[in-house]
Amino acid sequence: MVVPLDKRPRSGPYSGLNYRSARRYLARTFEASALPFAEEDALDLVLGLTGIDHAEYIARGTEFISEDAFERVRQACERRLAGEPVDRILGWRDFYGRRFAIDGVLSPRSDTEVLLLAALEAVADTPSPRLLELGTGSGALAVTLACERKDARLLATDISDAALSTAGVNARAHGVEARVERLRSDWFADVPAQPFDAVLSNPPYITAAAMASLPGEVADHDPALALAGGTDGLDAYRIIIPGARACLRPGGWLGVEIGFDQGQSVAALFQASGYRDVRVRPDPAGLDRTVEGRL
Ligand SMILES: C[S@@+](CC[C@H](N)C(=O)[O-])C[C@H]1O[C@@H](n2cnc3c(N)ncnc32)[C@H](O)[C@@H]1O
Repeated sequence: MVVPLDKRPRSGPYSGLNYRSARRYLARTFEASALPFAEEDALDLVLGLTGIDHAEYIARGTEFISEDAFERVRQACERRLAGEPVDRILGWRDFYGRRFAIDGVLSPRSDTEVLLLAALEAVADTPSPRLLELGTGSGALAVTLACERKDARLLATDISDAALSTAGVNARAHGVEARVERLRSDWFADVPAQPFDAVLSNPPYITAAAMASLPGEVADHDPALALAGGTDGLDAYRIIIPGARACLRPGGWLGVEIGFDQGQSVAALFQASGYRDVRVRPDPAGLDRTVEGRL
């Protein structure tokens, strides 16, 4: 039996919830509403809303949370029950161990770490590499690349002003704004003609049919501009794959994220544009996740 929040005794330092009972309250309430991942969401919310990490949660679980934190938990619970995803409630998502603001942009997914690792591998032997990211969104890829390779310089583009602004916030938060230049551009339209060592993109790739049946938590909270890839989901690849040739040095690398069933079609676009060493990489779940090739 979960005691409702408004029935919990509250006086003096006793806010009515400690870290553990806050987590338990949220988990049971989410379960009762048949929300998936109730336990995970409850823990993420308690940690995010109170500002403690998992080790502190274990050590200080029976300490009472503050009155302010109690109110944040109450409001977050209502928002989650109304269908808002945890990362939108918190305002950030973690990507490759770093925190990214997600105002007005696609919330970066852990699947995208496959493209990040592929890009790091591609420039592993290139000193001071220059990289171009098309459609940077939160900047999760460009900023993480700049953090992981202190000698790299990046140009991060997007057609969305909200994305360029949020990517700027994230670049500053991680101390790499001097090496991550941002540019508003419709794919290659305003990209300067200079050779890059690598170009990468996680473009919109959801088919028109799948867009019509997206779960509400995606459709209502991630921008359509970041998702919709045209009738067959391949519109952006038809521009990016041939277009990147003009931006790459000889031997330069192009990598793109794909939908799980797009490996063959996107690899064929790489081959048709004359790339060599074309390779499809799976994600940890074994699903095709990226395609890459070299000039
Ligand atoms: C799937 S999101 C990827 C965001 C981020 N790179 C990530 O991996 O989380 C695709 C991004 O492409 C941008 N985009 C869509 N159409 C574009 C275009 N014509 N030119 C440049 N960027 C575009 C969207 O605004 C969005 O930020």
